[in-house]
Amino acid sequence: MITVHTIAALKEQLAIFRSTTQSIGFVPTMGYLHEGHESLLKKARNENDVVVLSIFVNPSQFGPNEDLDRYPRDLERDLAIAKKSQVDIVFAPSIEEMYPTKMKIHFLAEEQSKVLCGASRPGHFEGVLMVVTKLFHLVSPTRAYFGMKDAQQLAIIETLVRDYNFPLEIIRGETIREEDGLAKSSRNVFLCEKEREEAPALFQALVLAKEHFQKHRSVIDAIQKATEHVTKNTNAKIDYLQLLEYPSLAEVTEDSQEMIVAGAIYFENARLIDNQIFNVKGE
Ligand code: PAJ
Repeated sequence: MITVHTIAALKEQLAIFRSTTQSIGFVPTMGYLHEGHESLLKKARNENDVVVLSIFVNPSQFGPNEDLDRYPRDLERDLAIAKKSQVDIVFAPSIEEMYPTKMKIHFLAEEQSKVLCGASRPGHFEGVLMVVTKLFHLVSPTRAYFGMKDAQQLAIIETLVRDYNFPLEIIRGETIREEDGLAKSSRNVFLCEKEREEAPALFQALVLAKEHFQKHRSVIDAIQKATEHVTKNTNAKIDYLQLLEYPSLAEVTEDSQEMIVAGAIYFENARLIDNQIFNVKGE
């Protein structure tokens, strides 16, 4: 495994691999790796000749009052996990390397970025699209891997790739959870003991909403069920709980086939998100 911190070194390493290999699997991350990231790396390892992992806490996707400064970082630990996952190249650039000059061209994401996390984090997805576009150009992967845990991000990146003809395939990875259902997240370290005990209520609430919707087909009642569950079982503040069509993230209609019920809740020092994606037929 080779770790590089500059674009020049990344290009050099990729050129060596490109001369002898067919496919490159790419897993972009912000580091502080956990089993969710590991499952994407495993998938990438199984499906490609070369695996590239990027570790970069991207400032352009954090709002002014968000947790950029205290986002957890531990490169040494991440490198050990990457090695164990048989990664070939780790790209861990500095902010100056990625953004040497002020960015003067920005994305404007439409409907899909106006709801859920996009509504409470203005500019967030534009920042994600900015960094992902740069990374895609730097790595030129055959396949790039994204987790369903961040289902809105995944849907928006799928739109980017389709709308702008990026020559790569986006592969979806299942959400990896703790035994009690809590979705693995780098931000879970910010939960105190009591909050950690309460946190699985978000996942439970989303499952309840999904099951309720599948039986009764009422968005309002399903969300009511989820809201009650979170309110009763946690001291968290609800940011949103919503049931929409997936991946369009439009309102549910009679014709909707794939759905998402998604939620975000604030604990003292961490905002947690989770979702359930399901088919109207009950799958
Ligand atoms: P980060 O939060 O580090 O996540 C990197 C990838 O891991 C994303 O595709 C995310 O969906 C996936 N992931 C996180 N938790 C997961 C879980 N419990 N199960 C499965 N997959 C999980 O998402 C980002 O970084 C950034 O926005 C990025 C795309 C790297 C752009 O900066």
